[in-house]
Amino acid sequence: MTDTEIPVRVKQMRHEADTVVSVEFETLDGSDLPQAAPGAHVDVVLNDGLRRSYSLTREITGGARCTVAVHRAPDSKGGSAHVHDILRVGDRIALSRPRNNFPLAGGAEASVFVAGGIGITPILAMLRHLTRNGRPWELHYAARRRGAAAFRAEITDLAAAAGGNATVTWHFDDEQGGALINIPAILAAHPGAHVYCCGPEPMLVAFEDATAGLPRDRVHVERFSAAEEAARDGGFELVLQRSGKTLQVEPGQTILDVLIANKVPVSFSCMEGACGTCETRVIEGRPDHRDAILTEEERARNDTMMVCCSGSRSDRLVLDL
Ligand code: FES
Repeated sequence: MTDTEIPVRVKQMRHEADTVVSVEFETLDGSDLPQAAPGAHVDVVLNDGLRRSYSLTREITGGARCTVAVHRAPDSKGGSAHVHDILRVGDRIALSRPRNNFPLAGGAEASVFVAGGIGITPILAMLRHLTRNGRPWELHYAARRRGAAAFRAEITDLAAAAGGNATVTWHFDDEQGGALINIPAILAAHPGAHVYCCGPEPMLVAFEDATAGLPRDRVHVERFSAAEEAARDGGFELVLQRSGKTLQVEPGQTILDVLIANKVPVSFSCMEGACGTCETRVIEGRPDHRDAILTEEERARNDTMMVCCSGSRSDRLVLDL
């Protein structure tokens, strides 16, 4: 555990949907957790080699407890399977300090949320905040089927508490003959609103297409694991200019795997392209960007990259390491 990690115990685990559990943590000494705004996530340090980012289900304004939600990915490489199968109430692990790549514009006149599956988690924290502050919101929540949608009761209760200030539209694919949620139609009905999306990649792509013409400060997107199927294709030469090393990234490896294996000092945290900790300057070559941090313009410049998840489009990549 590092100095900045917070020792916690698992206080409670709850079934939230077919493949989703929520996990409540409590600090070991009862001290307050750092504050976290709606949309924030923490890294859960499950053991020495296993660290994953999960969104908080509510903001942290004080107190010793916080809760994340974890969807068991069918192709889990260890993180979500570990949470579902091994982690149990009473276990002692550690959390990072919260970070937020998906902040809420809390004072907006109108806020429209599109959530898919486990993507509801950071949005739930936002809905709680807006409801408590008497701000209006509209949620469109898509899941493959009713039983796969987490937090249905909480969302229904929040909408009731918000009265006429909130509306919820559920979209269960199997009850719609397999039709997907119509994001352009939702957004077209709300010109001027702040719009948010968190969900699976096809939903995010549809959302980004539908919002391409909107002012960027009104468009908010969270990618959980842009790198889940990360740059594992490898097969390129990696030159570290400052260290004077030339390494090979083999198929199946990330750049970060190779750096760690060769004891090259590098900062990292989420290992999923979501936090920005591993950002590294590119001196030569064309990265294959797979993170959720860089903008399109930043990607096009090819002068920086997230080494935990991104690969290379060129045979040789020279980094400032
Ligand atoms: S470690 Fe988080 S973006 Fe690379």
